[in-house]
Amino acid sequence: MEYNKLKIPNHVAIIVDGNGRWAQERGMSRSRGHDAGYHNLKKLGQYILSKGIKVLSVYLFSTENFKREEAEVQYLMDLFLKMFKKDRKFFMDNHIKVVVSGRDEFLSKEVIQARDEMVECTKNNTGGILNICFNYGGRAEIVDATKKILDAGISSEEVNEEVFSKYLYHDLPDVDLLIRTSGELRVSNFLLWQLSYAEFYFPETYFPDFKETDFDQAILEYTKRDRRFGGITK
Ligand code: IPE
Ligand code: IPE
Ligand code: MG
Repeated sequence: MEYNKLKIPNHVAIIVDGNGRWAQERGMSRSRGHDAGYHNLKKLGQYILSKGIKVLSVYLFSTENFKREEAEVQYLMDLFLKMFKKDRKFFMDNHIKVVVSGRDEFLSKEVIQARDEMVECTKNNTGGILNICFNYGGRAEIVDATKKILDAGISSEEVNEEVFSKYLYHDLPDVDLLIRTSGELRVSNFLLWQLSYAEFYFPETYFPDFKETDFDQAILEYTKRDRRFGGITK
């Protein structure tokens, strides 16, 4: 796909969904689906950030995902630990800056430490930002920002949308394109603030099967959208 003829979003967000169903339909355990999703994410993430997209946010574990069976939650935590520890070289080689959005609560000390080391190690990379949303909830982010604003002693006269944005987990540009794989048509508490004028794209494909060419199709579709932001088309 020739990207120079396409409209390139600044910020793409992906709700990684369908790992479990992908595996179950193949008679495999849900864990195998998470493994397949993880491998696809590395390849696809690298591809996306190599195309001039500046920020890629990926929803990998929601604050609500703790409701799942203990064994699945543990498997996912081990996968995060592996990614934070073993993939530093991968992110360094690809010049990707990793930031993480989410709460510390209910995470192990080991995971928090590995996460923070990954962030520290990649902080000067300039080849695009990968925002990993891990133990993330959109409402939790808004509540946490509000608490920070109050704790900083900011008065109600000083609060506006721009100021508020600075107190979110990261001061990133608004999302231009949201992709949710697996055919589910909902936001599930993802980036509620940042999605306000995002274009939505909902492929049926389960995430482990969502490849580079599928992403190209999403960008083609995005290029055709008329974004009006409340105005009118000239
Ligand atoms: C997405 O796949 C990964 C996480 C939410 C951790 P799912 O695990 O939600 O897969 P389905 O939706 O059950 O198929
Ligand atoms: C959303 O997927 C959360 C992540 C992708 C991390 P879920 O599979 O948890 O969402 P619901 O439960 O179908 O809304
Ligand atoms: Mg799901």
